[in-house]
Amino acid sequence: MNVLVIHSSPNDDGLTAACAAAAIEGVRAAGGTVEEIRLNALNVGMCQACNRGWGTCQSTHACQVADDFQALHAQICCADALILITPVYWGEMSESAKALTDRVRRCEATRGAESCLADKPVIAVAAAGGSGNGTITCLLSMERWIQHVRARVWDLLPVNRWSRPYKLTTIREAARAMVTERR
Ligand SMILES: Cc1cc2nc3c(=O)[nH]c(=O)nc-3n(C[C@H](O)[C@H](O)[C@H](O)COP(=O)(O)O)c2cc1C
Repeated sequence: MNVLVIHSSPNDDGLTAACAAAAIEGVRAAGGTVEEIRLNALNVGMCQACNRGWGTCQSTHACQVADDFQALHAQICCADALILITPVYWGEMSESAKALTDRVRRCEATRGAESCLADKPVIAVAAAGGSGNGTITCLLSMERWIQHVRARVWDLLPVNRWSRPYKLTTIREAARAMVTERR
């Protein structure tokens, strides 16, 4: 199983990066292969709501805003499973995660059951390194995204500074279990 691990913090050594490292460890421990995406190192801008609200995302299921999105969208479609890890900003996904998921949703939700993510398992992780507040609202929108693109929620995992030690273990085990089930 090829798992795409996408994480969306500007910090290479923060809580989000630690969660990503744990997820990668879990996938590899189960014999899966990993492609890691540091989203903030790419140029994936926000949806432009082209034309009168719908652009080619609706007609051809491809985004017409040319940047790093097109290659990443193709990578997402080729993966067998996704692990999405975002820092919690204001109780929501980071801006980079929101930009990516918005654009993928427009392209894939409009395919209905033909979505390239249909039935693929997804683990979503919300890393709240400040007050610890806002993981649930963040995961709520991640869950809604998973449903819109017709993927399958494998797990939704909140993490904060206090739960970090045991949640890293949980993330590793969730990734391992997801790969093991689908092997
Ligand atoms: C704009 C912004 C908003 C934030 N909002 C929240 C929040 O709602 N709840 C929280 O616990 N932490 C919040 N934080 C703290 C981040 O969740 C914290 O920096 C987290 O550890 C990010 O992951 P990182 O360590 O990988 O950067 C916020 C940080 C920023 C920059």
